[in-house]
Amino acid sequence: MAFVKACALSELEEDTPKRVELDGTPVSVVRTEGEVFAIHDICSHANVSLSEGEVEDCQIECWLHGSAFDLRTGKPSGLPATRPVPVYPVKIEGDDVLVSVTQES
Ligand code: FES
Repeated sequence: MAFVKACALSELEEDTPKRVELDGTPVSVVRTEGEVFAIHDICSHANVSLSEGEVEDCQIECWLHGSAFDLRTGKPSGLPATRPVPVYPVKIEGDDVLVSVTQES
């Protein structure tokens, strides 16, 4: 599983998603509740960037139709999305946030 640097930990603001592209994969990196999560940045319902949504209760909400995805599992909490969004393993090394997009967790 190859981890690549997504961003610096110090540049992540609490509950403010950061969109990055890793090996061509759009990823939303989210710092919340003392942890850092990486979730695929495209909603499973339509082609919408989840980074533009709000973070609350360890979920990221799609701004278009309101499905919220659990940052730990990628599962939607409600309609209209029914399919999960991939989530990716995260490692913190010093000030580096490392994400592996080669394998979903
Ligand atoms: S596009 Fe995300 S819930 Fe519809």
